[in-house]
Amino acid sequence: MVKERPERGVQAALRLLAARIRDDVRPAEAVTLACELAVAHLGVAGAALRTLRRGAAAGCRARAGEPAAPAVRRPLVHQGEVYGVFSFYAPPRGCGLDTYVDQLAPMVAALVLREELRRRGDQVVAAREAERHRLRRDLHDGLGGNLASIRLRLETAADLLVHEPRGRRLVADAARTAAGINAEIRSVIDDLRPPDLAEAGLAGALVRLAARHDGSGTEVRARVPRRLRALHPAVEVAAYRIAAEGLTNALRHAAARTVQLGVWTSATALRLDIADDGQGRPPRRPLGLGIASMARRAEEVGGTLRILPRTDLPHGTLVRALLPGGTV
Ligand SMILES: Nc1ncnc2c1ncn2[C@@H]1O[C@H](COP(=O)(O)OP(=O)(O)OP(=O)(O)O)[C@@H](O)[C@H]1O
Ligand SMILES: [Mg+2]
Repeated sequence: MVKERPERGVQAALRLLAARIRDDVRPAEAVTLACELAVAHLGVAGAALRTLRRGAAAGCRARAGEPAAPAVRRPLVHQGEVYGVFSFYAPPRGCGLDTYVDQLAPMVAALVLREELRRRGDQVVAAREAERHRLRRDLHDGLGGNLASIRLRLETAADLLVHEPRGRRLVADAARTAAGINAEIRSVIDDLRPPDLAEAGLAGALVRLAARHDGSGTEVRARVPRRLRALHPAVEVAAYRIAAEGLTNALRHAAARTVQLGVWTSATALRLDIADDGQGRPPRRPLGLGIASMARRAEEVGGTLRILPRTDLPHGTLVRALLPGGTV
């Protein structure tokens, strides 16, 4: 039964839906809500909605109430493209379903397009991660292995040159250079996937990072959920590197008493905060490599980075990274 006047029911439903969509809601939840609100506020017996993109199913399907006859179907059209089909079951006369559908269409279009963008972003991140993985393997197995064997042979040759001190020195020098290059390769490999991440996962690696920075005159606390769901490896590397630079900056520049490293996750995102209670960033201070690199790492995985003065304290700096939290 419709308790409200039809237009009021439609407007109430749309208001509630818009408020939820503004929150960090998954498309599947929004679509389910659109059906539930149709039942609650338009007085239909049931409602079903499936989203479309270029005529194909776009992954979301929801229903609410009962599928009673008659069924009235309406396409959700926005800027000439159909983004979904809404079915209303046993709608009362004049319940406002056309207004509901008209106003719902841009919201559903935005959801479908956002989801498509997220999927494409995920594909880019996954492709980049696969490339990093290949690079790591090639560096380790190819260059690294060959250099190690060159170094060994040079060391053996140096040992053999007992009666040629000049030759021996040159060869030993070359062996040391090979060892140095190998160490550089090792650090490039580690940078592509920090060892702590591989061993302890993101949560464990962040806790270790905070512990390593703690106690040098500044207290470093970590507030990290004990278990974080598996994220894209590239997102984990970005989060870890941003945390490392954020902590380094706080210890180097802030003269802070405490620094807090915090992580929060929602259905679709990971928030990483590095908050210090130090003197704040001096105005007009040019950016170094560190802040630029944090911002680039966030952007590369489809996230954002902001550096703000603390609003909850008279002074201090907050570095906040919002990274996509989609699972692998
Ligand atoms: N937490 C902070 N508190 C106060 N000032 C900061 C903080 N973080 C950064 N700054 C200021 O911003 C400047 C730029 O930081 P950025 O990390 O880009 O470069 P850097 O730390 O100076 O050098 P590097 O390239 O080695 O990172 C710093 O020199 C410092 O003045
Ligand atoms: Mg720095």
